[in-house]
Amino acid sequence: MGSITEERKETLLKRYGGSKNGTPSGMGRRGGFGGPPRGGMAFGKPKNAVSTISKLLEYIGKDKAKIIFSLVCVIISSVASLAGSYLLRPIINGLIKEEFTGTQKLNNLITGLLIMAAVYLAGVACSYLQQRIMIGVSQSVLLKVRGDLFTKAQKLPLKYHDTHTHGDIMSRFTNDLDAVGEMLNNTMQQIVSGAFTLIGTVVLMFVINWMLACVMIVIVPLLVFAGRFIGQKSRKYFTTQQQSLGAVNGYIEETISGQKVIKVFNHEETAAEEFAFLSDELRQKQMKAQFFGGIMGPVLGNLGQVSYAVSATVGGILCLTANFDIGGLTAFTNYSRHFSRPISELSLQMNIIYAALAGAERVFEVMEESPEKADEENGVEICSGDCRTEKGHIIKGEVVLKDVSFGYVPGKTVLKHINVTAGPGEKIAFVGSTGAGKTTITNLINRFYEIDEGEILIDGINIKNIKKDSLRGNIAMVLQDTHLFSGTVRENIRYGRPDATDDEVELAAKVAYAQSFIERLPEGYDTLLDGDGANLSQGERQLLNIARAAISKAPILILDEATSSVDTRTEKFIEKGMDRLMKNRTTFVIAHRLSTVRNADRIVVLEQGEIIEEGTHQQLLDKKGRYYQLYTGLAELD
Ligand SMILES: Nc1ncnc2c1ncn2[C@@H]1O[C@H](COP(=O)(O)OP(=O)(O)OP(=O)(O)O)[C@@H](O)[C@H]1O
Ligand SMILES: [Mg+2]
Repeated sequence: MGSITEERKETLLKRYGGSKNGTPSGMGRRGGFGGPPRGGMAFGKPKNAVSTISKLLEYIGKDKAKIIFSLVCVIISSVASLAGSYLLRPIINGLIKEEFTGTQKLNNLITGLLIMAAVYLAGVACSYLQQRIMIGVSQSVLLKVRGDLFTKAQKLPLKYHDTHTHGDIMSRFTNDLDAVGEMLNNTMQQIVSGAFTLIGTVVLMFVINWMLACVMIVIVPLLVFAGRFIGQKSRKYFTTQQQSLGAVNGYIEETISGQKVIKVFNHEETAAEEFAFLSDELRQKQMKAQFFGGIMGPVLGNLGQVSYAVSATVGGILCLTANFDIGGLTAFTNYSRHFSRPISELSLQMNIIYAALAGAERVFEVMEESPEKADEENGVEICSGDCRTEKGHIIKGEVVLKDVSFGYVPGKTVLKHINVTAGPGEKIAFVGSTGAGKTTITNLINRFYEIDEGEILIDGINIKNIKKDSLRGNIAMVLQDTHLFSGTVRENIRYGRPDATDDEVELAAKVAYAQSFIERLPEGYDTLLDGDGANLSQGERQLLNIARAAISKAPILILDEATSSVDTRTEKFIEKGMDRLMKNRTTFVIAHRLSTVRNADRIVVLEQGEIIEEGTHQQLLDKKGRYYQLYTGLAELD
């Protein structure tokens, strides 16, 4: 382990554990030991507890009646347990008082015990009811929050994803919601019963014997102080432990998903060493956290014993000197022994509440994120064939970019004054070096991002005024990074148009030249694809993505490096199908392999976000400019 430098160790801890969000992955779950359970990211103090609570209450509001009922149950069960202890007093006094005869004593005892049993039974029944109700309430609240969060996550603009890691977003569904659930399940009940028991105990102590109660009150601050001290310590260690856990999980996640690269560069040993270091850090932190988490209960329990001993001694003296009844003393000592329990419970619950509120805050943060810009009030619907509504505009597929400027982040312009006109059915190619802004243009046509300046028109209608789903429904797109869902080949192709028939699926596969490899798959179109198509080659994945676009009837087609991983021979075959696919559709093609764009109606050459050349293949070659250089391979010699 000696070969990792101190500097690297520090970097590891900082990078994986100390990121501003705590856990870098969605896996930072609780350690599973005695102390307060905590979601990795949900840790720390909530920033604005009041507003978070009020938002939570909105969710809970619907179940108000149930909650009130369950609180009543908690109160009854707390009262029952207090009363049960108090009953010891008359029972014992009834047994030892001189004036009663033997039978009377027995009768007293039986009646007393029966009442006691009834009281405790009522308490147990109420606890049971309360648990059942609260579990139902908390699960239905979680269901609703989770649903809203998911719906919101689907509506977030791509900009949000640019600035938040997937792990971060996912952890809000897991850690943060768990923390909220934890609180809803238990905390409310624990707090009410803790507070009630505490107050009730104090009151009853005074009722039984005020002098003895005063003695106990002196011991209370000691208990509170000790509880708080241990609570703080354990909270501190739980935070660091949670960070360590996050680091270990983050490291595992990264090394497993990056296994191939690790093997390629022979980094297995380094990875093992670094992991051993992080893992050992976690061990140390966990030891401390567990230790404090573990001693908390016993220490407070022992303090309870101390107060028991004190009250028994002082009470005994009072019995001898101040006529204090023995039944009262028994009940009192019983209270004093359990006196510390509500205190420690309350301090434990504070940790859970903190975590839950911090978690809820992070969940609401996503929900309050502004969603993709909503459709204009009178946004129009566009369609190519039959329109769903009478007002729908039938479009031919003309796309015009007028003086479009755009930057992903303010102040950093990526596209500058872009002017492109694509007539219906025309094929426009974008070429240019890496990072020139080709993909960005397609992102704008689709309205993945809002443009800063200029306008984009489809058949003369500004895309801002077109309903988003109708806009996107009319643009078929093969994205530069392929993505396949877990499901069969058929389902993945049909994703492009859910109502497509099996024949249409097969036809699309034929167009994309995917049919021959699909037929070679063990179960053909019904072969299950797993983990983003991990069981396919990169090129095969691209062919499926093309088929998915091919099945759509959209009049506008965007192909972003659709065939970059396909061999030139296959590409030739696809070309024929693609020609058929592009026929009568306005098509934007992006390709580094310039042979594939040769037959475009117009080729637009981009450089650093600006159009520097435009024309047909032949025109551009004749011009002997940038395109000529790119095409003939001279560009690299610059
Ligand atoms: N989501 C994003 N947030 C911020 N900047 C981005 C984002 N996506 C792209 N960029 C930047 O915008 C510029 C243009 O990127 P774009 O993806 O359009 O390039 P491209 O021409 O498609 O390149 P390639 O040929 O590599 O696909 C690049 O400098 C890139 O760093
Ligand atoms: Mg690109």
